[in-house]
Amino acid sequence: MKSSAIAHSNIALIKYWGRSLDHNANLNIPSNDSVSMTKYGLTRDMHLQTHTTIDFSDAYEEDTAILEGEVLIGREMERILRVVNPLRKYANIDCKFKMMSKNDFPTQAGLASSASGFAALAIAAVNALGIDFSKEEISTYARLGSGSATRSIHGGFVYWNKGNSHETSSAEQICGPDEFEMNAVIAITHEGTKDVTSDVGHESAHTSPFNEVRIKKSQEQAKEIRKAILNDDFSKVGKIAEENCKYMHAVMMTSNPPLFYWHPDTLKLIKSIQRMREDGLECYFTIDAGPNVHCLCRPEDTYELQKTLEKIECVNKTIRVRPADDSFVIKEHLF
Ligand code: PMV
Repeated sequence: MKSSAIAHSNIALIKYWGRSLDHNANLNIPSNDSVSMTKYGLTRDMHLQTHTTIDFSDAYEEDTAILEGEVLIGREMERILRVVNPLRKYANIDCKFKMMSKNDFPTQAGLASSASGFAALAIAAVNALGIDFSKEEISTYARLGSGSATRSIHGGFVYWNKGNSHETSSAEQICGPDEFEMNAVIAITHEGTKDVTSDVGHESAHTSPFNEVRIKKSQEQAKEIRKAILNDDFSKVGKIAEENCKYMHAVMMTSNPPLFYWHPDTLKLIKSIQRMREDGLECYFTIDAGPNVHCLCRPEDTYELQKTLEKIECVNKTIRVRPADDSFVIKEHLF
């Protein structure tokens, strides 16, 4: 019972930040709907994806998970088990597993890997166990590892309904990768891991006095942005995404303890992007739980935007991305 899958990471246009306080925190049920673009890196050997193989067999005496050659223990292994255990139970199988996973991008580069990682794990495990699930159902199991992984099951543009139970908190595709014309350029200013992971950050969101407003606005914006995506309205999508990103960072900065993911260079980039826009290159920023900036643009402006961003002193590296296809099962195993 062995299977492998490839999944892509995603960038949130409407952010998930904070779990619903009405449910068990381990279920990762969010306090608001969110929307994202699944990303495909336009470089020769780095597509921002994870390749995972999982094998269930009586030959194993214990569960093992290996990420980039490192055996996972503690909290990291716990998150893997949160995805695999309920699937094993559903399939009525009690043998142990071995999992191996690798990213085609450096984990140190400050690019989220949990979304692609847990999406690839859920797809590979469901397939290895012979479970007949829809993509929406698989997305609920990816969610148990990491919230943003819920959206990485689908390609293109994706809507995660917050739902009110394990079964109903799932992701659906808004449209495929070729149906809405938008790319992005990631400007990396700082590599390395962050001080406070999003996994921990989600717990403090509700301590910000602005969080209730953010939740209410995000619900409205999620619906608005879905409409704008379906209407092929890039300007509206960019404006809403930028607003929503600022709401999330305002909540992070005003939480207890406060979370400042921006570096001075992040603000420099924000200012540069505003200037580029004034000069006629229409682009919008969005930033996740880290200092690096995703700059959203029309496909025909991607190269020019990349060139302009590369000239900014604090930018170490840029990566062009377009919307990715669905994540998928692959025959090639890692062991
Ligand atoms: O899935 P997590 O726990 O890594 O949370 C992701 C949080 C953000 O990236 C900041 C926003 C999002 O919706 O992806």
